[in-house]
Amino acid sequence: MKLENDLYLRASRGEEIERYPVWLMRQAGRILPEYRAVRASVSGFKELAETPELASEVTVQPVDLLGVDAAIIFSDILVIPDAMGLPYQMIEKKGPWFENTIKTDSDLSLIDKNIDVEDRLSYVLEAIALTKKKLNNRVPLIGFAGAPWTILCYMVEGSGSKTFSETRKLLYTNSRLAHELLQRITDVTIEYLKAQQKHGANALQLFDSWAGILGHDQYQEFGMKYITQIVDAIDGPLTVFAKGAYSSLPNLMDLSCTTIGLDWNMSVINARSLCGNTKTLQGNLDPCVLYGSHESIQSETFKMLKSFKSPRHIVNLGHGVYPDIHPENVKTFINTVKNYEI
Ligand code: CP3
Repeated sequence: MKLENDLYLRASRGEEIERYPVWLMRQAGRILPEYRAVRASVSGFKELAETPELASEVTVQPVDLLGVDAAIIFSDILVIPDAMGLPYQMIEKKGPWFENTIKTDSDLSLIDKNIDVEDRLSYVLEAIALTKKKLNNRVPLIGFAGAPWTILCYMVEGSGSKTFSETRKLLYTNSRLAHELLQRITDVTIEYLKAQQKHGANALQLFDSWAGILGHDQYQEFGMKYITQIVDAIDGPLTVFAKGAYSSLPNLMDLSCTTIGLDWNMSVINARSLCGNTKTLQGNLDPCVLYGSHESIQSETFKMLKSFKSPRHIVNLGHGVYPDIHPENVKTFINTVKNYEI
């Protein structure tokens, strides 16, 4: 079925567009009072994410309420470790927490081998299928996963961290274990992304939120190596967002995916000169711009749009929207993009 609004998909493929498509990373949940109301009706984040009816409802909210050009399925990158045998809890105001972590060879026995992704992650796949029905071909649906390096960080550390030094320590003390885990995460992630496509996701995104904590050579060995396997195994629109991977931008441009996500410290002009017209670029407004006045949101958005030298752009923030941003400010951003003439 043809989508009513396929700007996001056309921009991904480098086809003609009449205006830039716009959506926000982390748009599902957090900023909308309507999300908080649904969230308050259940025990917590996990129950919401694991109930397809509710997960699909909050996925569609930003399409209805903010007018974005794409939906992203309401879920989390941590469903992968969970499916592999390391369950997480989402602790209120603190974030994710894993009871078990992987630090030594013997901890590997905690990870289940040969898991059935369609079974263990059936709740996400059902939420995707339900969301497709509710979207009724209005806009594309984006599926996603964490990149293996970022997932490894949580499996080793067991929670968020400023430095992820336990994980970086492992790269020096037991790199073989790190590679073993990264390969297992990669294999499951490929199956998971293909299953998301099969159940209706029109496009995919890989989030490598902690790419920036590795130096260039380590990111090639422990990050890019596995991202390359995933990108090579997946057909269709796929965005790789490697936050902070400045020195690896030229390498990212060599991946066979359609789109590269830029954080707000990456220069659009520099990125464009690195890839020519071979990639769509996504980003990259500083999320903090949305704390400003409506006038300054407009002028900062114009500044970004003027730096685009090609129609191969998908407008977004340079990282996820912060939870305390007012929805009216998000609308100002979205409407500024929608009214901008290419
Ligand atoms: O983009 C979307 O709107 C779809 C849903 C989505 C969530 N998490 C829902 C969520 C997506 C794409 C993610 C990705 C994710 N999760 C990343 C990569 C993107 C990034 O921000 O770098 C990471 C690192 C995580 C792990 C995670 N999940 C953390 C660190 C936290 C706690 C802090 C926070 O961001 O809120 C979460 C919880 C989480 N994931 C919430 C939501 C809506 C908040 C939970 C709640 O409502 O109580």
